[in-house]
Amino acid sequence: MPRFALIRLLVLMLLGMSGTPAAAEDGYDLWLRYRTVEPEWQQRYNPAATAIVQQGESPTLAAARAELERGLAGLLGRTVPAAREATGDGAIILGTPDSSPLIAGLDLALERLGAGGYLIRSVTVDGRRATVIASGSDIGVLYGAFRLLRLIQTRQPIDRLDVGETPRLERRLLNHWDNLDRSVERGYAGLSLWDWQKLPRFRDPRYTDYARANASIGINGAVLNNVNSNADILTPVFLEKVAALADIFRPYGIRVYLSARFNAPMAIGGLENADPLDPRVRAWWRAKADEIYRLIPDFGGFLVKANSEGQPGPQDFGRDHADGANMLAEAVAPHGGIVMWRAFVYSDEEPTDRAAQAYDEFRPLDGRFRPNVIVQVKNGPIDFQPREPFHPLFGAMPQTPLMMELQVTKEYLGFATHLAYLGPMWEEVLDADTFADGEGSTVARVIDGSLHDYAHTGMAGVANIGNDRNWSGSQFDQANWYAYGRLAWDPNLSARAIAEEWTRMTWGNDPALVEPIVGMMMGSHQAVVDYMTPLGLHHLMATGHHYGPGPWVDDLARADWNPVYFHRADREGIGFDRTASGSNSVSRYAPAVASRYGSLERVPEEFLLWFHHVPWDHRLAGGRTLWDEMIVRYSRGVEQAGAMRETWAALAPRVDAQRHAEVSDFLAIQQDEARWWRDASLAYFQSLSRRPFPESYAPPAHDLDYYRAIRTPYAPGN
Ligand code: GCU
Repeated sequence: MPRFALIRLLVLMLLGMSGTPAAAEDGYDLWLRYRTVEPEWQQRYNPAATAIVQQGESPTLAAARAELERGLAGLLGRTVPAAREATGDGAIILGTPDSSPLIAGLDLALERLGAGGYLIRSVTVDGRRATVIASGSDIGVLYGAFRLLRLIQTRQPIDRLDVGETPRLERRLLNHWDNLDRSVERGYAGLSLWDWQKLPRFRDPRYTDYARANASIGINGAVLNNVNSNADILTPVFLEKVAALADIFRPYGIRVYLSARFNAPMAIGGLENADPLDPRVRAWWRAKADEIYRLIPDFGGFLVKANSEGQPGPQDFGRDHADGANMLAEAVAPHGGIVMWRAFVYSDEEPTDRAAQAYDEFRPLDGRFRPNVIVQVKNGPIDFQPREPFHPLFGAMPQTPLMMELQVTKEYLGFATHLAYLGPMWEEVLDADTFADGEGSTVARVIDGSLHDYAHTGMAGVANIGNDRNWSGSQFDQANWYAYGRLAWDPNLSARAIAEEWTRMTWGNDPALVEPIVGMMMGSHQAVVDYMTPLGLHHLMATGHHYGPGPWVDDLARADWNPVYFHRADREGIGFDRTASGSNSVSRYAPAVASRYGSLERVPEEFLLWFHHVPWDHRLAGGRTLWDEMIVRYSRGVEQAGAMRETWAALAPRVDAQRHAEVSDFLAIQQDEARWWRDASLAYFQSLSRRPFPESYAPPAHDLDYYRAIRTPYAPGN
């Protein structure tokens, strides 16, 4: 080892001992790092962690105990022994009234907590001080164990606890867009975790770490395969592999689900059609469901993408979405399964505005779905753009449970190398008011079921997880996995609070670290919006892989695949008129929302060009013309990317070397690509607007032809 490197290593090791940066972290541990707390905190925590007392056994209780043992050993720097009884002060007692006489004796009224809820309380048992982690269910105990560890990880006192929590949504799912060959659609974190070829015999220990990470934030289900699904996943060979994963995940409260290809009865069942009203087809699905449940008794159910982007569906047989969903729902109902039917549909020929199509197809079906069907709706009406208004279906289907689908992976937000913390974007959507039942009918209240009294509730996050050592493609993308899980647990949490929690666990509790990192995170999404698609612009990415700018693209087979279709820029102005004078898709919102979005004066500026076609010289509230404002925003985004880089550079002494270097390199890529986005977009728009750049703003570094000629055919995730 060269001398310089050796000295650096020694310095880092010394720092590691004093509680600041530890050497050689690669991000594998996620937010469950359990690094030893500072001595003063050790002293405070020690008396409240002398033993881990667990009575009764189950795989889930064992997982809870194991996590406490592991976490406390790391955090407190010593082994906290497991025991069957509390013999002195400071025991941590975990369990359910059924499994633990100690907990049963405490009369904690746990019934009120509901499924998965837990209570952590400082109590006295037989005159001895103790902390109980109690729940009516084993899984609640596991969630409580992670919560107690989180309290320590974030340096909260634990001597006078009274914390009770219940998840607000029933299904908190990851959707993996993983293919059977281990490629991941829109995945930027390596290959799929699921090593199908080696399953079911080889059970990679990483599957357990995946389950631990998910359980730590309350995720309780995983759809294992891509929505663009291959029917082979439903064959016996694969079902055995799926069952192996289900066995590993079960103790962590994670049920597996599968994406079902609608024409599977034809593809693997030898039937001539997949008509949902054909009795043979229905019988095939019932038998398939029975077969699955024999192998996986707690199988969650099916996710279906039908009649969308070329996927087969009931419309191929002259039936509608409700017919298709109900057939599958009937097959899984006897086993307690559900069907999540996606509303991300747009037909092959449909000439109307895509922003209205899902609404127009699904709203008339409200009331026609079986009780175990949930319609899964993306956050916005187009497709996971950097910023979208909320989807008009939210609030519009009072008789059909709707769950929200978010994209954790950053298909349209710079892949893994751009730092974009998505908490604020999701918070914005959840807080949006649908006015479905007067003011205060927020999207969060639609999906938590309180607005329409839904029988099922849920959220789905398109996973950003792969076999990269850091799981998510970048250190900061772990925050999006984390934030997604936390919001699925409680859609009312604040994005900032989640960012702070994650930062403390992932990077450290030093305020000199927490404050700048949270600041970076909170501004990062807006920065990306600014340098890619400011003021409500959308779908300007390059073709196919969506990597880099392509606002000029106008030659794709379908009009609505082309960026020019979405921005509609010409000599006079820019933007998609979705008001009554245009596509009128704004009319799908409740009147109070429609009138706001539909008004050029009252529409929020961030959605201006989403709903309006606006002349370049139109003056915005701040006094600038639209053209000048676009330049200001694009430039601001680039500046912000540069500012993040500077902030991060200054944190070098406080962050372990490997992770710091990785983030630094990625931020450098981001800054370059932000500039690319700005310059390419403005060079193109200027070719239409023919307006000058304001004096203090640099013109694009190259001419438009230069940007148009850039090709990146091997960009990942396609
Ligand atoms: C986007 C994405 C596709 C994906 C689709 C979907 O269009 O680019 O890769 O299949 O969404 O959500 O079904």
